[in-house]
Amino acid sequence: MSQRTAIVTGGARGIGRGCAHDLAKAGFNLVLVDLLEDNLAATATEIRQLGTAVSTYVADVSDHTLAQTIVAEVTEHFGQINFLFNNAGRAMPKGLLEISEAEWDSTIDINLKSCFNWCRAVVPFMLENENGGRIVNMSSINALSGGVTSAVSKFCYAAAKAGILGLTRSLAKELGPSIFVNAICPGLIKTERPNAVIRAREDELVSGIVLNRVGTPSDVAQLVTFLATTEPCFITGQHFIIDGFQWKL
Ligand SMILES: NC(=O)c1ccc[n+]([C@@H]2O[C@H](COP(=O)([O-])OP(=O)(O)OC[C@H]3O[C@@H](n4cnc5c(N)ncnc54)[C@H](O)[C@@H]3O)[C@@H](O)[C@H]2O)c1
Repeated sequence: MSQRTAIVTGGARGIGRGCAHDLAKAGFNLVLVDLLEDNLAATATEIRQLGTAVSTYVADVSDHTLAQTIVAEVTEHFGQINFLFNNAGRAMPKGLLEISEAEWDSTIDINLKSCFNWCRAVVPFMLENENGGRIVNMSSINALSGGVTSAVSKFCYAAAKAGILGLTRSLAKELGPSIFVNAICPGLIKTERPNAVIRAREDELVSGIVLNRVGTPSDVAQLVTFLATTEPCFITGQHFIIDGFQWKL
């Protein structure tokens, strides 16, 4: 078992899975939290094959009490938590005149409140670490551009992801210098999940990206692992756009 432990929410598939692999290679024990039991088990098996200690939790990240319970258990098991990647999130394809109040609430809960839940649970333990801790929150290019053009992410998702930027900057001030808090804003990232929108419009979408391709989970993992591990670190309270320069939004 390593000395350092990372929690990745939404770690069962997609970007979270890619980042979990990279963090394992960087020497972290892994704690994966997700709703998808089968995907969680498959990802945990892959990561254990790297020689990494992995715990999995089937849990809804928008549940405040559950976050506290899991973090207490993880700390008991691994000794300390050094890195939190608040990655779990879900798109909301509906516009203002289509969305229900319940859909607004759940989109905000899954994308934004989840970051509050997991920061609130983890920070008391990170503050006890000799080297504090690091947090990366998953925002999106939509936080900056507005979620207007894509059919998968309209205004409510953009609002939640923009809220994450305010939360990130504020927590960096409140928790520094012990805890570093940053956010990332990916553009289009192609994951193993069949994404009908990307598939149907890939050529058109790529024509608006300077680097001529959509991103991969490995592209995002490079950035996340850098923010989790770089020493010495003089970066906190920032957001990082990782989109191959997606100029046509
Ligand atoms: N793929 C992209 O183009 C892109 C771009 C910008 C930001 N993002 C963000 O990156 C993150 C990961 O997205 P992805 O593309 O890998 O999607 P994905 O759907 O493949 O992965 C998201 C993971 O989060 C989990 N999850 C969702 N709601 C949850 C909940 N309530 N509790 C626990 N787990 C939950 C899902 O089960 C899934 O495993 C999301 O926050 C997304 O908004 C993605």
